[in-house]
Amino acid sequence: MARYLVSGGAGYVGSHVVLTLLDAGHEVVVLDDLSTGHAGALQEGVPFVKASLADRAALDEVFANWRFDAVFHLAALSLVGDSMKEPLRYCRENLSNSINLAEAAVKAGCMKYVLSSTAAVFGVPREVPITEAAPTTPVNPYGLSKLMMEQALAWAESAHGLRSACLRYFNAAGADPKGRAGEDHEPETHLIPRAILATLGRLPPLHVFGTDYETPDGTAIRDYVHVMDLAAAHVAVLPRLDGGSVRYNLGNGRGSSVREVMAAVERVSGRKVPHEDGPRRAGDPPVLVASSARMMAETGWRPRYPELDRIVQTAWEWHVKHPAGYGVRQAA
Ligand SMILES: NC(=O)c1ccc[n+]([C@@H]2O[C@H](COP(=O)([O-])OP(=O)(O)OC[C@H]3O[C@@H](n4cnc5c(N)ncnc54)[C@H](O)[C@@H]3O)[C@@H](O)[C@H]2O)c1
Repeated sequence: MARYLVSGGAGYVGSHVVLTLLDAGHEVVVLDDLSTGHAGALQEGVPFVKASLADRAALDEVFANWRFDAVFHLAALSLVGDSMKEPLRYCRENLSNSINLAEAAVKAGCMKYVLSSTAAVFGVPREVPITEAAPTTPVNPYGLSKLMMEQALAWAESAHGLRSACLRYFNAAGADPKGRAGEDHEPETHLIPRAILATLGRLPPLHVFGTDYETPDGTAIRDYVHVMDLAAAHVAVLPRLDGGSVRYNLGNGRGSSVREVMAAVERVSGRKVPHEDGPRRAGDPPVLVASSARMMAETGWRPRYPELDRIVQTAWEWHVKHPAGYGVRQAA
């Protein structure tokens, strides 16, 4: 049994990472400031430190109170649109908070660090599926902030021996099939929950951005990876760190168009997805699909829930059972 620190463990992906670690019999401590996460996403019996990663003293205290075998760093600002409006804030917070955690870990002798990175480090790819060899040319400050941290971690390995795994997630989707956690973002910007919430009448009709892409049905194609598969990748990657730092692209390896996602929601729910077609959104590439071949070859990881209908079904069940997400919503 090992003990792990999960920053952002009250958030969407983080809460599923926590469940996966607990299921594997490990001890977990969650650090989160609840800025976008939820107290209701915390698991009973898991020590919780309510603090910001900006607070170095709080971080030192956490590492003084527990010894960790590795840290999983998920806490971040992660809205691409907001990052375009507040580039300096995104770069400052995502980079300095991630560095605070890395410095505190190194100081305490915890030399394994798993970073939640993103497909956004690649910007508009020249080729799909996107491999680790693709050029990293982010087209928004969010992607840049993650790329800067990836680069800082490379230097931290050579100078301090801190071994890192940068996991470039594509689109996290779905919910714990046992119903213990799910997605609750405010605002919700992801396609699958937006399509589900529109179908449930909790959001306005789904806006389809672009129907004239050079794709089979004209809508944009993305790679949706089940959030429990992402979580499992965090455990699968750890043994690799014994040999040094790694970077992996993490996706389902298959793309689904907006229309295909809507059709999956309709099959799962038995209802029509209210929607309206509109023009493309600036900066949206037609196709973003990961090659996770390296991750699979080097760690043995495989997606357990690759089918779009299964991904949508777990998300649908979560939203139906949690009409107010994790808590009571304020009236708009
Ligand atoms: N959801 C996706 O599809 C996706 C895709 C690619 C990458 N990622 C990355 O995965 C990570 C998790 O994403 P998510 O969708 O679960 O986001 P989320 O907003 O649901 O979770 C982030 C968590 O971090 C906490 N947090 C934020 N700033 C903090 C701070 N300064 N100190 C302490 N806690 C703080 C929030 O309260 C929240 O609980 C992020 O780093 C994101 O960039 C997510």
